Parts: sequence; C-alpha cells; structure tokens
Amino acid sequence: MPKVIIHKDGQVFQDEVQDNTNLVVRAGIRKFPYPYLRYGCGMGKCAKCTCRIISGAENLPEPNWKEKKMLGERLAQGLRLACQLWLHHDVELTQDGVSPPASTQAVLQAAGDSMYVILTSKPGQFRTEPVDGVRPVEAYDYIAAGRLRARFVIAELAQETKIKVVDEALPPVVNHVPSKFLERFDSVEEARAAYLSRVADLAARGFLDASAG
Ligand code: FES
Repeated sequence: MPKVIIHKDGQVFQDEVQDNTNLVVRAGIRKFPYPYLRYGCGMGKCAKCTCRIISGAENLPEPNWKEKKMLGERLAQGLRLACQLWLHHDVELTQDGVSPPASTQAVLQAAGDSMYVILTSKPGQFRTEPVDGVRPVEAYDYIAAGRLRARFVIAELAQETKIKVVDEALPPVVNHVPSKFLERFDSVEEARAAYLSRVADLAARGFLDASAG
C-alpha cells in the first residue's frame, strides 16, 4: 500500500493508504491526510490543494489538463494538484509555502462545468453506489485471474449530491461523500479515456484482463 508523508508547519505526518487513493477524497471523509491537507473544490478548479512533491514525483501520472491550466509553469517547480492525483506509490509532499495562483477565479470560470464522474468499486474493499442526481451511463468490469477486481461506472452528474460509499470492512461503514470531491469530466468520452488510463495502469502492474459490462 502506498505510504503518504505530509510535512506541515514543521511536523511530519504519515500513514498508509489503499492503492488508487485520492488524498482529497479521503480528507473529504475525514480520513488521513485530514486535517493536514488544505483543499477546496476537489475538481481541479480552485488550486487550494496545490502541493509540492518532495519525493515520489517520478511515480505520479503526467499532469492532466486541469493541472496544466491551474499551475502552468509551476508544474516545473514540482507543484501538483492533490485532488487530481490517484496514488499507486509512496509520495512525500508539503503545502507549506505553497499558495494557490492569484488568477484562480478567472481560470475557474474559463474551465466551465464538467458533468460526468467515475464511480469506482473494489469488491471486498468498498463500493460506490449511485444516488438521486447521479445517472449511470456505462459500466466496466475489471477482471483479472478470473476474479472481479474492480467496477467502474461512468455516471452523469445532474446536480451536486452526496455519493454513497460503503466501506466493506467488517462491520461495513457507510460514508456520504460530497460529489464535489469526485474528479469530473466534460463528456462521456473524456471519462472513458480516464477509465482506460486507470485500467492500463492496472494492467501495467500485472493485472492483464479487462472486459466491458
Ligand atoms: S481542491 Fe480545488 S483544485 Fe484541488
């Protein structure tokens, strides 16, 4: 499991997280790195989650268009948007001395609204269930070694709501995660490309079979 180390105000906090974890989503349900991580929209539009990667940058995905739009040349200084990162490897970061770009509001308006999200479930770990205001469009099962490893549902977000995430530990725990913490996409095609990227990443790490459902 990835180890996350956060430096804040001269102190160091660390914990292990599940593979494919987004730190802003976790903080949104009051799990580590809460309360040590600063964040806002969860959508790549406010840059409040900007952080400096101290180590592990080489294992992170290439910056997406939201990070490029929000951070520009600051990407070269090692800055990333935590809400746009799904972690598969150890990472060490800080937000000390890192401030959001002054032009955040203008960029936010230019970015416009996104309308699609990906609901991810991993059997035995957690499942994400559609609720009112969330309309499933497509579903993809990720199967490896004859076993269902994950299900990805691309869903249209008609309104801000709270997504039901059931932690399948014993006893099960139900969390209601504000939809604003989910990564958003402007189209089904964009969401599908993100799904394929996640599957390719899983395949690259040794899980080879994937099928659409
Ligand atoms: S929380 Fe707003 S851009 Fe990351």
